[in-house]
Amino acid sequence: MKSLEFNFSDSKIPKKEIDKLEIKLKKEIEQMKIALSKGYDDSRASINLLDDKENLQRIKNCIKEKSDLNPKFLIVVGIGGSNLGTVAIQEAVLGKLYNQTNPELKILYADTVDTDLISNIISIIEPFLKKGESIIINGVSKSGGTTETIANFEVLVDFLKKYNKNYQKYVVITTDKDSKFWNFAEKQGFNVLEVPKKVGGRFSVFSSVGLFPLGLLGIDIDLLLEGAKSIREKCLDQKIKDNPAAMIASLIYQHKINGKSIHDLFLFSTDLESLGKWYRQLMGESLGKEFNMQNQRILEGITPTVSIGSTDLHSMAQLYLAGPYDKFTTFVKVESNNNSVNMPNNPEYSELVKAIQSKPMEKIMNAILTGVQQAFRKKDRPFIEIILPDKSVYSLGQFMQLKEMEIIYLGYLLDINPFNQPNVEDYKIETKKILND
Ligand code: PA5
Repeated sequence: MKSLEFNFSDSKIPKKEIDKLEIKLKKEIEQMKIALSKGYDDSRASINLLDDKENLQRIKNCIKEKSDLNPKFLIVVGIGGSNLGTVAIQEAVLGKLYNQTNPELKILYADTVDTDLISNIISIIEPFLKKGESIIINGVSKSGGTTETIANFEVLVDFLKKYNKNYQKYVVITTDKDSKFWNFAEKQGFNVLEVPKKVGGRFSVFSSVGLFPLGLLGIDIDLLLEGAKSIREKCLDQKIKDNPAAMIASLIYQHKINGKSIHDLFLFSTDLESLGKWYRQLMGESLGKEFNMQNQRILEGITPTVSIGSTDLHSMAQLYLAGPYDKFTTFVKVESNNNSVNMPNNPEYSELVKAIQSKPMEKIMNAILTGVQQAFRKKDRPFIEIILPDKSVYSLGQFMQLKEMEIIYLGYLLDINPFNQPNVEDYKIETKKILND
């Protein structure tokens, strides 16, 4: 199994600044190590999801039970931290066009309450239900009370019920133990999988939130956890040069202090777009905070943006190379793709674009990425690079665990609590009030 590689040579942060941050981070790295021995009894609980053998077995049992029903569709009903990690891994590993490749089991996501989205889902599944085929609905809500999720869940389960009188065995709920959703599941006779209380939504991809739907799709969840574990050890190293999460957190932090409060994750792979969106939530929701740990009003945050190479070079490169010096970029390169495409050698095409004939397409993409980095250097735009060996589930496990730990370290450096989201709750409460009027 290959490890992620890193290139920090264009970060433009002097070593003496990194040395200072290395000292500052020691305390938090120690706390993380202590958290490792505390199971789920710490706000950093997500780092212990990788070792929860009992829960993994429960998830696998549920996967086996539902696979035996030979489902044609899995519908994940959840939003934010309750589905972004699943989409990210599914699209990276199986491809964005997975459903069009005619798999045995297709996946659909019901996140927002968009009537067109939900009625399209209904028209896609209806012919299958009419034929007596099975569909699994996985309702995912940590709190168990998110308006969008409960609304979509109610509509879809109600629809399933129309065609299947044993509909209960086709529904799985993933939620906090003893939440309203948990109690509802038990009353209705649905399977229910637990999300540990102290694991927040955006840190929950390695819990039943991600593992159940991904495992049902046939993704190797053991390998996902193994990849995550392999980098967790490195990200607990006190020496910053050997700890990529602490190093990246320090670079992003120092740039923020120096006025670069936008971080762009520039992924050179179409299938990684949703991974970018997962990270956007992780960074946005964890670091955007009104108050610091001393309860002083500081309005903290780093604005995460996501770009896809080379697509977004044709929409954003002008701004990135000529606009304000307010951004720090992380390029993500995939070393080896699942497939290769070789360019044909038709001389008449060389009149249109020279020097691409007979080349593997990957070589063109790599030339573009190297070209962009060269242009960034020339314009004094700081960046780092993370190299994924491939889009395997093992590599994804490494990347996501790295990023979760990086954000925890960033939270510590910024002196905020990265685990709560009080203002997201604000809007949820306001929405409920409006609906109750
Ligand atoms: O990361 C988070 O905590 C949020 O994005 C939640 O995942 C999101 O609001 C959905 O909440 P819930 O899982 O409780 O339905």
